[in-house]
Amino acid sequence: MSEPPKFPYEFIGEILITPEEIEKRVNSLGEQITNDYRDSNKLILMGLLRGSVMFITDLMRKIHRPLTMDFMSVSSYTGSESSGFIRIDSDHKTNIRDWDVILIDDIVDSGYTIYTIRKLLLDRQPRSLKVCALLDKVSKHKVEIGIDYCGFEIPDYFVVGYGLDIDEKGRNLPYIASVDLEKYQSVLT
Ligand code: IMP
Ligand code: MG
Repeated sequence: MSEPPKFPYEFIGEILITPEEIEKRVNSLGEQITNDYRDSNKLILMGLLRGSVMFITDLMRKIHRPLTMDFMSVSSYTGSESSGFIRIDSDHKTNIRDWDVILIDDIVDSGYTIYTIRKLLLDRQPRSLKVCALLDKVSKHKVEIGIDYCGFEIPDYFVVGYGLDIDEKGRNLPYIASVDLEKYQSVLT
C-alpha cells in the first residue's frame, strides 16, 4: 500500500506537534493521573465533544485505574472568536454526585468554555473536579482558570488535527498542525 499524502488538506501550515510527541505526553499524563487517583474507585472522565474524542480515547488507555466516561456537547454562540456564551447542546447522562470528575477538552483559548462548564459541574456536587486539556493557548485567556493537567502550551495559532477541527475539517490528522488562514480562505472562495 502506498503512503498517504502528508498534507491531505490544502490549508495545513506547519506541523507543530508530531504523533510521537503527542503519544509521549499522553503517556506521562496517564501516569500522573493514575498516580493522583490511586485511592479513587469512582473516577469519571467527562469529555467535551467533539474535539476531545481522540485525546480521551488515547488517554484512558494510559490510566490504570477503574474509570468510566461520559460526554457533553457544548458550543460558543457566535463565530470563531469565543463569545463567552456557552450553549449546552447535549448534557452528560451519569449522575456525578460523589464522583471524582476530570473534565477533558481539546484546547483552551479564552477559557470561557472550561470556566462555564466547570461551574456547572460543581453545582452537581462531585467529590472532586479537575481539568485536563491537551492544548493551552495561554496568551488568549480572558478568564482565570486552573488547568490541572495540560498537554502542551502553544502560541496563538489556529490549529487542527488529533481531534481538533476547522469547520469540521482536519480532525483525522494524526498530528497537531497550524492552519494557514489565508490559504483556508482562498480554498473557500
Ligand atoms: P474557549 O472557550 O475560548 O476556551 O474555546 C475553547 C473551544 O474553542 C475549544 O473547545 C475548541 O472547540 C475551540 N477552539 C479554540 N481554539 C481552537 C483552535 O485553534 N483549533 C480548533 N478549535 C479551537
Ligand atoms: Mg471544543
